[in-house]
Amino acid sequence: MALAEFLEQLNQLAAEATALFDAADDAEQLEAARVEILGAKSGRFKATQKLMGAVDGSDRPAAGKRLNEVKSEIEASFKTAQDRMTSGGSAGGAPVQFDPTLPGLKPQIGRLHPITQTIEELMDIMGRLGFTAADGPEIEDERHNFEALNIPREHPARDPLDNFYLSTAQKQHEVLLLRSQTSTVQIRVMESTPPPIRIISLGRVYRPDTADATHYPMFHQMEGLLIDRHVTMADLKSVLRLFARSYLGADVHIRFRPSFFPFTEPSVEADFSWNQGWVEFGGAGMVDPNVLRAVGYDPEEVTGFAFGLGVERLCMRRHGITDIREIYKNDVRFLQQF
Ligand code: DAH
Repeated sequence: MALAEFLEQLNQLAAEATALFDAADDAEQLEAARVEILGAKSGRFKATQKLMGAVDGSDRPAAGKRLNEVKSEIEASFKTAQDRMTSGGSAGGAPVQFDPTLPGLKPQIGRLHPITQTIEELMDIMGRLGFTAADGPEIEDERHNFEALNIPREHPARDPLDNFYLSTAQKQHEVLLLRSQTSTVQIRVMESTPPPIRIISLGRVYRPDTADATHYPMFHQMEGLLIDRHVTMADLKSVLRLFARSYLGADVHIRFRPSFFPFTEPSVEADFSWNQGWVEFGGAGMVDPNVLRAVGYDPEEVTGFAFGLGVERLCMRRHGITDIREIYKNDVRFLQQF
């Protein structure tokens, strides 16, 4: 056989093989094409290779060289077709290259604000002590923020410099303000419910303080109120101690210092132990008879205690936050830590 004729056959085989591989639609067709061309026993390449024996001896090295080249070409176009199938992911294709050990893409899930988390936890703890959550408006009138709480007109707590009075309301001869304490909710609940009462109220309060590490013009309080027959200071101390232990740990102690609030008599400042020291917890006391009278209760029949705690302070103490402003900057790098 002449060399030229052999080479012609090789070229034709190469072209047909490529066309065949390219035409394959799925892995099955591609495999059939591979067996037809490259099959070890009866493949067309094998058959062409056998023809080499018929080529003139002196031309064989050239024939052999070209034979090897064509084999590489055919294998390369088979590989191309195979790649097309895996990346295209066509039905029944070769298994997709998938590395199960690669780290996955974490879905971005939001989280609750640390203050919201604290509020939910406080509600949970107080709920177990039998207190239900009550609510009141953030825009209040003077009766609920002051008068019914035994804070008379001349009282310094009503100073316009210490409260956010709303000027639009004043024009309509109605004095409204952003509530400065959640004690307002005590009044609202007692006005609408006969005793006994056992509620907490968690919400925002507003005071025109300049923001610094421990002050912010808006913060949250947890108010507590329990009214029933024969309620004493001992009940108040038990409830606050149970609460402190649940929230801060079993080794926490609380202490009372004498204090003054217009709406309680006697009044105390409650502290809890922390790192060998004492930290202010909030105010508390026995509900003043004037307050009970203001909502139509009979102070000879029922007594009760009340307390008011700063939510931010508890949250900061628990998480080691040293600047209240961080809580309200809404910097996700900060918020993500909780
Ligand atoms: N309302 C007080 C404040 O804002 C906190 C407080 C003190 C609430 C004593 C009470 C209480 O219910 O009994 O500082």
